Amino acid sequence: MLKNKNIILGVCGSIAAYKSAFLVRLLVKAGANVKVILTPDGANFITPLTLATLSKNPVYTQYFEEETGVWSNHVELGLWADLIIIAPISANTLAKLATGICDNLLTAIYLSAKCPVYVAPAMDLDMWKHESTQNNIEKISSYGNTVISPGSGELASGLYGEGRMAEPEDIITFLEQILKESLPLYGKNVMVTAGPTYEAIDPVRFIGNHSSGKMGFALANELAKLGANITLITGPTALKASTELKRIDVVSADEMLNACSSIFPEIDITVMCAAVADYRPKVVATEKIKKNDNELLLELEKTVDILASLGREKKANQILVGFALETNDEENYAKGKLEKKNLDLVILNSLNDKGAGFKSDTNKITIFNKALERTVFEMKSKTEVAKDICAAILNISK
Ligand code: C5P
Repeated sequence: MLKNKNIILGVCGSIAAYKSAFLVRLLVKAGANVKVILTPDGANFITPLTLATLSKNPVYTQYFEEETGVWSNHVELGLWADLIIIAPISANTLAKLATGICDNLLTAIYLSAKCPVYVAPAMDLDMWKHESTQNNIEKISSYGNTVISPGSGELASGLYGEGRMAEPEDIITFLEQILKESLPLYGKNVMVTAGPTYEAIDPVRFIGNHSSGKMGFALANELAKLGANITLITGPTALKASTELKRIDVVSADEMLNACSSIFPEIDITVMCAAVADYRPKVVATEKIKKNDNELLLELEKTVDILASLGREKKANQILVGFALETNDEENYAKGKLEKKNLDLVILNSLNDKGAGFKSDTNKITIFNKALERTVFEMKSKTEVAKDICAAILNISK
């Protein structure tokens, strides 16, 4: 959740400032870009060198660094940040945030920033309990800032009670949870099908197709980034799914049907990307078929159209997205499928477009919605195509 996030970590004058070194380390390990702002008092507790080394960025303590002659632009820093964490925040800085005083770089950045702000207070128990501190906490919360409450235990003064800054690991867990909950598909159950199906002829042969599963896997990854709980039901493919996804491996259309139908009632959004076989051998030979004759006739029977059967079961609050891979009269076939299979979106890819469809790393799609409105996209990588499909899904799930 914190990967590539730009984070400003404010550190105030408190003995808990030693914990900010661990916090920087954990944020950097989680993939965040961290810039530390030390208040003048914070610099008495922990050195800029420690925090600069851990954050791999210069540490800012004042507007103007005399040694380097560098002017630190608080507006630029405030707008750079995706989130600001002030840990530890002292009673003094808390009061400044509550009243809008900006007499140092950190408080000026706070006033300039538009991003979410989290504060983790650290102070002695009586300072924490004081009515003015509690009023300031209430006030800054009413501005939309989030307070990460202090814990109880032994304090630097030797007293026992509330006022210890939350542990760095707990701050990270807290931030990750909040970021997760803010994602647009948080809590949604999403099912994605991918890959081909193999329909057995005999114990060694099957009827299959060229689907690689790349489009379905890319979709599952992008939908997961939006916070959804993903179940990826995939036919045979060499692709590896990220460990965050629940993966169900199937071989035949029948197995895919059973896997899809059994979880469909709990699913909010379904994207059927698999290239499911339309026909399978009517009889599967129990032993390998010998090449005795010049001709071999296979009798095929229709498989169940999984998408159409889910379309019949679909409730009003469920979203169903299908694919149409066509070679001729593409748009009419795609629109026909949208209506016939009761879909909310149909994604058309044509084998006439070079670089679209099976195996390649790129795809070119056209999306039709229920009102049969058409959006045509350029040729893109399958990851970028997946992002476009996600945007179309978000558009109708509002
Ligand atoms: O009708 P057609 O097979 O072209 O429709 C393609 C769409 O239907 C895809 O979304 C595919 O995953 C789905 N499908 C299915 N079960 C089948 C055949 C196709 O779910 N037996």
